Amino acid sequence: MSVLPQQHDTAPPASMTDPRGAGGSVHIAIRDLQQRFERAGMVTHALDGLDLEVRAGELVAVVGPSGCGKSTMLRIVAGLLPFSSGVVQVGGRDVTGPQTDLGIVFQSPVLLDWRNVLDNVLIQLELRGLDANQYRDRAKQLLADVGLGDFQDRRPRELSGGMRQRVAIVRALIHDPTLLMMDEPFGALDALTREQMRIDLEKLWLRQRHTLIFVTHGISEAVALADRVVVMTPRPGRIEKIIPIALERPRNQAVVGSARFTEYCDEITECFMRNGVIRY
Ligand SMILES: Nc1ncnc2c1ncn2[C@@H]1O[C@H](COP(=O)(O)OP(=O)(O)O)[C@@H](O)[C@H]1O
Ligand SMILES: [Mg+2]
Repeated sequence: MSVLPQQHDTAPPASMTDPRGAGGSVHIAIRDLQQRFERAGMVTHALDGLDLEVRAGELVAVVGPSGCGKSTMLRIVAGLLPFSSGVVQVGGRDVTGPQTDLGIVFQSPVLLDWRNVLDNVLIQLELRGLDANQYRDRAKQLLADVGLGDFQDRRPRELSGGMRQRVAIVRALIHDPTLLMMDEPFGALDALTREQMRIDLEKLWLRQRHTLIFVTHGISEAVALADRVVVMTPRPGRIEKIIPIALERPRNQAVVGSARFTEYCDEITECFMRNGVIRY
């Protein structure tokens, strides 16, 4: 992912010039969010009073144990799941149905094997009722930018896991959303591919400055990527701690190998030891 899309290459809007400072407007606001699932008389309390604000252009990583409600939170923000109570706003508006100014990437890229790479990207537009033809050049450019320029006619089964996930990222960004949400996107990849994807994702985000919520199990992955790491408790999910990561970008080898980086990872590990998620 070297050269990346043209959209925000010129001066970004004022609110996005310093997303990590106080200047960025609030993009996502979650207040006292509760989520209970009821199935066959069994109630699962998934989220218990979640409060979170994410500023425009911010990169927030959410890390927490399996089942603590991370995916549930993303689905609620996306407007794909009605919530039990609380306030959820995107761009200052209450979320009452599926959001359109949004791209989502899941752990599994979910590509259609009977469509080639380009058509897998364009399906996003078809599903949104947009004219896919108008986005063809952008799709080709984005695919080239993520190193898939020569693969647009290939079928998903001809690609490696990392390449498939790059297609899913392009598909999520094809309509140029201001919000990208990724749910353990690199969870199925080997360690080396995962590290390269992390590096390339940071480059992409540094150029585009969309708001990015990145859900992961990986403590060091969260620290390496995020402006702030949100540490969640076991179910029912609450926010245990929010840790601002004051490390310079890009997060290169020197940064990731620094003592400060390790201290951040230790701080998160200690949260998980305190609440019994990690036991030595
Ligand atoms: N549609 C659903 N119906 C019933 N229970 C659900 C549903 N979706 C999620 N849950 C439960 O809510 C909890 C949180 O799930 P999830 O958000 O997927 O966790 P995470 O993504 O953090 O692993 C889990 O116990 C899960 O089984
Ligand atoms: Mg999940």
